[in-house]
Formats: sequence, C-alpha cells, structure tokens
Amino acid sequence: MSRWSLLALLACTAIPFLARAAEPPEYDFPPGFQWGTSTAAYQVEGGNLHSDWAAWEALGKIHGKQKNGKATDHFTRFREDFALASQINTNAYRFSIEWSKIEPERDRIDEAMIAHYRTMILAMREQGLTPYLTLHHFTTPIWLMNFKDPGKGHFQTVETVKQFLEFVELVVARFGDLVDHYWTLNEPTILSMNGYLTGNFPPGVALPPGEVARALWMLLRNKSLEQLIASSPQGKMFVRSLYTLLLCHIRAYDLIKAKDLVDADGDGVAASVGLAHQYVALNAETFRAFPAFGTMMDRFNNDLLRTLKSGKVDIFGNIGLSPEEVALPAATITNRMDVLGINYYTSLRFRDLLELAVTQFTGLKLGFLSKEKSSDLMGIKVRPDGLYRVLKETYANYGWGLMVTENGIATHDEVFRTTYLVAHLIRIARLLDEGVPVRGYFHWSLIDNFEWHLGTAPRFGLIEVDYTTFERRVKASALAYAEIAKLNAIPPNLLPSSR
Ligand code: BGC
Repeated sequence: MSRWSLLALLACTAIPFLARAAEPPEYDFPPGFQWGTSTAAYQVEGGNLHSDWAAWEALGKIHGKQKNGKATDHFTRFREDFALASQINTNAYRFSIEWSKIEPERDRIDEAMIAHYRTMILAMREQGLTPYLTLHHFTTPIWLMNFKDPGKGHFQTVETVKQFLEFVELVVARFGDLVDHYWTLNEPTILSMNGYLTGNFPPGVALPPGEVARALWMLLRNKSLEQLIASSPQGKMFVRSLYTLLLCHIRAYDLIKAKDLVDADGDGVAASVGLAHQYVALNAETFRAFPAFGTMMDRFNNDLLRTLKSGKVDIFGNIGLSPEEVALPAATITNRMDVLGINYYTSLRFRDLLELAVTQFTGLKLGFLSKEKSSDLMGIKVRPDGLYRVLKETYANYGWGLMVTENGIATHDEVFRTTYLVAHLIRIARLLDEGVPVRGYFHWSLIDNFEWHLGTAPRFGLIEVDYTTFERRVKASALAYAEIAKLNAIPPNLLPSSR
C-alpha cells in the first residue's frame, strides 16, 4: 500500500469519527434574554401633524411625494400589534413617544396624547412586553425647526437641550411608573449626517455636489476627510448638531436617573438609560486599503462613544465649537450609559464604496458587479460577522452592557429575511458563550413601516401591513423568530445546514 493510499484510508476512517466528535454547536441564550422588536412613532403611528417630518412631507421630500398619513395605523391598532408581538413569543418592545404629539405647540401639553400613550404602554405590558422607550427617534416638533435659517433651529442651539430636557422630565413624570428602560436618542450621528450633510432629513442641509465629488476624490487619494468637514459650513453644522445631541443625552441621563425612582417591573432597578447607536462596520481589507476612509468611519462610529467613555469631548475634532463648549468637566460626561444599544444592519466592503460613489455621481446602480445577494429594496447585504466584530470590539473598548436595538432587512423574500435573522442570532449566541454581555435582541421591525424619505416601499416587518386595508399578516420569518424566542435557542431546523 502506498503512503498516499494509507493516508486516504486513514482519512476515510477518521471522517465518521470526526463527524461524531464534532457535536452540533448549541446556540442558546441565557434566561431573561430580551426577545424584542423595535418601531418608531413616526414610522408606524400615523396622524403625524406637528413634527418637522410633517413639514418635510409637505415640501414633497419623500420618495414619490408620499405622505405619512395613517402610516400603519398603529395609533389605533396598537392592541392588535401587541397581541401579535406576544403571539410570536417576544417579551420586549422598543418604541418611541412622539414629542410633537405631546407638545404640539411650545408649552402646550396635549393631555389626551399623554392618556393615549399611557393606555398604549399598559396594553404592551398586558401582553407581557417589557417597554423600552426611545425619547427621540429622528422626529422633532415643528416649532423647534427653522427651515429658513437652519442654523437657528433643531439641534443647532443650546436652547434645544433645555426644551428636550423639559420633554424628558414630563415623560418621566407621566410614564415613569410604567417604564424602567429608556433610550435617550436614536442614532444621533445618522440624524446629524442626514440633516446636515446628505440633506435627506429635515432641515435638509446638504454638502454641495462639488464638495461630495471632492470628498470622493480625497477618499480615492487617501487624504484625511476631516479637513473637508472642517472647511464646509455644512460640516460645522453637522458637528454642532452632534455636540448638542451629546448634551441632550448626558443631561437626559442624569435627569432620568434622578427623577424616575419607581421600579416598574420589580427587578430592583428603577431606570436603566442608554443610547441606540448606529454602527456600520468596515471590513479590515477596506480599512487597510483606504485608511483615511477607515479613520472617518471610525469617527462616525466611535467619536460619541469615546467621548462618553473618556469624558473628553472629541467630535470630529470639535470643528466650529468654542473652547468653553468643549471643556465640559469630564465627571459630567463619563459613563452616562447603563446599556449601549447597537443598531446594526450591515458592514461595508470596498465594492460597496465603489457602488456608493458611482451611484452618487451617475445615479447608476452597480448591483450587477457582485453576485452577493442584497436586500431588494435598500441594498443591505447579509454580513453577520460585522455584528460579531462590532459587539466584541465595543465591549472590549467601552465595557458597557449591550443590546442589539435594531437589526433587520428590507425584503419581500421571507427565506432571505429568516436567513438574515438566524445568521445574526448565531453570532450573538457565540458572543454570549465568549462572555460578552448581550442582554437582548430587538428585530427591526415588528411591522412593515414608513421608511423615512423612502416611504412605504422598503418592507422591514416580521408582520406584513396591507397599506390599503391596514390588515396584518404574520410572515414566515416571524414564525421562525417565534420558535427561537420560545426555545430561548436556535433550533437545529433553522440552522444554515438544514436550510
Ligand atoms: C433607523 C430606523 C430605520 C432603519 C432602517 C435605522 O437607522 O433607526 O428608523 O427604519 O434604520 O433603515
């Protein structure tokens, strides 16, 4: 027998043994894990009359000139939606309270709206859903906005911090006996970027096309993009917006901790406060090829978090901020984070950057360049390893407890959505095994909803909404999620090899 046939024989006899020895990994979750879904008021409720987004719609800024109208009519159908959330075995629900409904005009509080939200929160609790309340999810009362002179409204003035804190105090006073979990803000960096750099969100300040071209050119030549931000008025507004939002977060954190003393769920903690933060990962090769872009992405992802950890304000180099604004005492900033919420959708590779650049310039979509499947409506690629890396690194860097506050995909393909869901949950189970404290997973979204400037086309829901009748239909991915949440584990039939 030749050496090669002996090796081949050994290999054949060893394979069944190895297969037996390698037990299928167990993807299970600890007791008390929060199985949730997320929504935002503007995207689901309807009847949005007093926010900056109502004005934005009136200006025809939504794709196809759509109007939010009744959205998904969740405002009247919330009971049905919570019953469905409970049927699919979730035990937690992240939602936002619409500031512009509570305070439609400056200093006029709408008591009927307060009563409505109390009823709504009670209804979710009755269905066994622990409320996770977001205080600001992208929408702002219209009276705070100044479309004519954006520098005088929205998150450009310190007056906004005061106004926001008054709203927070009201929310805590009126709902604190029912709620223990708060997210102060949703994705402050994305809000600032869309409001002051891309112009996709109100107030619609956008870098002029020439500046965008310059940015892309600098990216290709690996030049620092921070300088570009420094030299443009839009960039300065972006930094100021983020700084104001930082103040909103730290002051709201202190306020909630001081004022919400009622332990609504009896677990010994009256208030747990965090931030729902976007994280777009960049793969290592792209980072190496374009370190300047890598640094820029790192700033987008980490500047706010680093500031909240170190107590030293560094937001894109603090361009346009005065020395007094920057010199906040560290003790008033650090560790205002009981749990950090990560909103993770995908990570970027070089090809994605190229696609983005070409689309930006020409409007052409280069999807054909890649065989990788992406979400049919927003181009989201399934990159679950990015979530693994982000959570692992974020925990290592900051040490805060973590939750995934958003993760999902806009698609009509239920097999694809389920694959996406399971792939990300596998990564979370691995992290838990490795000791990373991920306390919950909130899928975006419970129901199909109004995707900001893109309107109703992108379908993120586990539950379908028929926009003419407002009927709900449970999708296949929701049934998969229900099975996982019930078992507190991913059952073998949902694992990739069996699909
Ligand atoms: C936002 C959601 C949005 C989702 C999908 C997140 O950035 O918080 O409101 O619907 O992304 O685009």
